[in-house]
Amino acid sequence: MPENKKDDAIQEMWINLRNQFPLRRDRIYLNTSTIGITPVPVLDSIHSHMKHCEEIGDIGHSNELWQSVKSGISLLLNCDIREIALTRNTTEGTNIVCNGLTFNAKDEIITSTHEHVGNTLPWLVRAKMAGLKIQTFEPSQNDDETLNRIINLISPRTRVISLPHVSCASGQILPVESVGCLARDHDIFYYVDGAQAVGNIPVDVKSIGCHSYSASGHKWLCGPNGTGFLYVQEDMLDTVQAHHVGAYSNTGDFNLNNGTMSLSETAQRYEYGTINTSLIYGLKTAIDFWSKINHKKIWKQNSTLTRFLRQGLLDIDAEILTPPESGSIITFRFPNIDYQHIQQRLWKTYRIRLRGIYEGDLNALRASIHIYNSYDEMKEVITALQNTLAED
Ligand SMILES: Cc1ncc(COP(=O)(O)O)c(C=O)c1O
Repeated sequence: MPENKKDDAIQEMWINLRNQFPLRRDRIYLNTSTIGITPVPVLDSIHSHMKHCEEIGDIGHSNELWQSVKSGISLLLNCDIREIALTRNTTEGTNIVCNGLTFNAKDEIITSTHEHVGNTLPWLVRAKMAGLKIQTFEPSQNDDETLNRIINLISPRTRVISLPHVSCASGQILPVESVGCLARDHDIFYYVDGAQAVGNIPVDVKSIGCHSYSASGHKWLCGPNGTGFLYVQEDMLDTVQAHHVGAYSNTGDFNLNNGTMSLSETAQRYEYGTINTSLIYGLKTAIDFWSKINHKKIWKQNSTLTRFLRQGLLDIDAEILTPPESGSIITFRFPNIDYQHIQQRLWKTYRIRLRGIYEGDLNALRASIHIYNSYDEMKEVITALQNTLAED
């Protein structure tokens, strides 16, 4: 909570920033992990770009725009722009990776029990098609224990480790760097699902040591819905073969008569066909929007609010499944109370939007907090929970 004049001024700055988001005041939105709210300047930029394209009769696919958006993403991830492909969402990146890798029957994939459906179904379908075995581990709150659980699953047949950077279920940050060392030591392809990380916590794909990393523009970056990006380490571009290709995947000539073609030497090879370039323009504007405010400031503000909510939840005896200092997600539950019951009551009576967590049978609720949230909202959430619990 603000305690002095300086704090008040900072809070005023956040309130002014809040005014740039179209989110209605009749609700408390705590579901950025599903969809971030896009600020008005970003929405306006999409509209004017789209209008301009229609006025001049052009798709708007310019090299300059692509370089500039990829340059913003490469700064966020700490990689080269050649290693970035634009996608429509995290799931598309997962599909590109899991369908681009070559497998033999009985090869094994290691993944966690906390995966989002978007990082589950692609592997399940691939496993069915290629006769793969999926091995799962339950993430522990203790990083060494999580590593041990993964080590116990590694066999000579393990080809891939696929993990979330931040669990969509518990909000926990997984020990992705240590798993990176493990993957390197055992020569295993390493994919990280960064949907809940980019824009929420600092990301450095080189320190993680992953071969590929996928994220969405429409969650913590508050970019337009239907935007995402995939990092593929440059020396893995031929290992992750491009399956869906078309206009923009190639660089040079192609010839049906003699079967020649040349795919882009960069991750651009995973992009294909006509897309809504105005959304890409909007993603660029969203990345610029955050950079101007400064990511570190945002994370500091978000984690202060998150700690405040956490304390409020502890005060009403919630069981918190998210370890402290895990970014801006808190997953919690009340023993013996169905999460759907609380979720529905909070929405219907108090217009508070939380996501239910069924993943890993956690029977929990998840609050994801971003800069459009406030201390007053956190207090209202606690009061609403107290009232709901008292009714039962
Ligand atoms: C960890 C994780 N992976 C993947 C996804 C899927 O994201 P998208 O629908 O943007 O592909 C989500 C969505 O919430 C998620 O939390």
